Amino acid sequence: MNTCAGSTFKQHLIDPEICIRCNTCEATCPLGAISHDSRNYVVDPEKCKLCNGCLAPCPTGAIDNWRTVPLDAPFSTDTQLGWDCLPTERLGSENGIAIPMEGIDPAALMQTQGEGAAAVHGGATYGASIPPWSAAHPYIRLYGPHAAEPSITAKVVGNVRVTDAGYDYDTHHIMLDFGSLPFPVLEGQSLGILPPGLDVSGRPHHARQYSIASPRNGERAGYNNLSLAVKRVLEDHQGNPVRGVASNFLCDRLVGDTVQVVGPFGSSFLMPNHPGSNIIMVCTGTGSAPMRAMTEWRRRQRKTGKVEGGKLLLFFGARSPAELPYFGPLQNLDKDFIDINFAFSRIPGQSKRYVQEVMRERAIELGLLLADSNSYFYVCGLKGMEEGVLLALRDVAQQQGLLWDRLGSALKREGRLHLETY
Ligand code: A2P
Repeated sequence: MNTCAGSTFKQHLIDPEICIRCNTCEATCPLGAISHDSRNYVVDPEKCKLCNGCLAPCPTGAIDNWRTVPLDAPFSTDTQLGWDCLPTERLGSENGIAIPMEGIDPAALMQTQGEGAAAVHGGATYGASIPPWSAAHPYIRLYGPHAAEPSITAKVVGNVRVTDAGYDYDTHHIMLDFGSLPFPVLEGQSLGILPPGLDVSGRPHHARQYSIASPRNGERAGYNNLSLAVKRVLEDHQGNPVRGVASNFLCDRLVGDTVQVVGPFGSSFLMPNHPGSNIIMVCTGTGSAPMRAMTEWRRRQRKTGKVEGGKLLLFFGARSPAELPYFGPLQNLDKDFIDINFAFSRIPGQSKRYVQEVMRERAIELGLLLADSNSYFYVCGLKGMEEGVLLALRDVAQQQGLLWDRLGSALKREGRLHLETY
């Protein structure tokens, strides 16, 4: 139970209207006080000790909500799971008893999962919740249920399949244009897509989060547009067939169609901008979107003669070259601009390779970068790789004679290790 004042206390709640279900809070909470069902994320008032560790990493601010409730009648997790929006503070006038909201059966709220980023800024021990010191200022939550503008309409100006046809793995590069309305973004930020229509319980779909794949000055430099990498979800995490609501909606959009967008989101997974800063990127699948954005920004800067970098080192895991969402074409980039390392897992006749294995093979280069306080690490993609990648970093650091505990906490404290897995 969290803090009390007299017979009431401030109960910590998550705003279901703003929450983009990215799982950051649940992954961050050291007490397991945050949980979710197919629709909502909720805080257990019995477990939350108000450490506030979940507040800063939340990309949308949905986590930072509080209601004064009677000490003996907080909103239960079951009640919170049934909410479409936060209740007003509804205390009984005489005895201060909270009037419970009508609960809705969570089983009735079943909804497609496994699409959108559902990003976990996990690895609470090492993952930073602050940006690099030289990151540009991000604008967040300009459009959303509680902002001045409820959402912004973007026009689809491009929709290209970027993985080879004939494979199950169907990923689209989708370009959105915001016309004359501002939607300023930085590399590493994300946005939310509001699919039209209602879910099975008759309520509007919640927003699905997608990482932005283009740099700050537009998919096309100087234009008010951006791009997303969207994988068509046709099965859930257990392999059962489902049709992802937002991913299929997006992949099926034609040029000229419109979509409703909320955001931008994200204030820590941002790139450094100071000269000499190195960027080490580790990704799988559509986790390559922010890596494409950062690489392209550095490439554009380089073209104009502005030297912001240091080194770029990329580890990219995909099933096969045909299923590479990005960086296939980018393989043509100069080796002295970016050092690209692929790990393919499903090439017939070859043994499975994962990014962490390739990182170990590049231990010398990686070790030197780990030893450099100007190095910034970004990990984005499958949740399953997070542990393997952290172990690889630890082992490489130790081979380099670095104390991992000390280095790991410095990476977190200095905003130099960013984890976004789902
Ligand atoms: P796998 O072939 O074993 O699934 P996806 O195509 O599903 O987006 O995954 C991208 C890549 O990440 C695939 O090559 C996949 O390999 C690989 N992968 C799956 N699990 C892990 C893991 N635990 N660590 C690293 N890479 C992984």
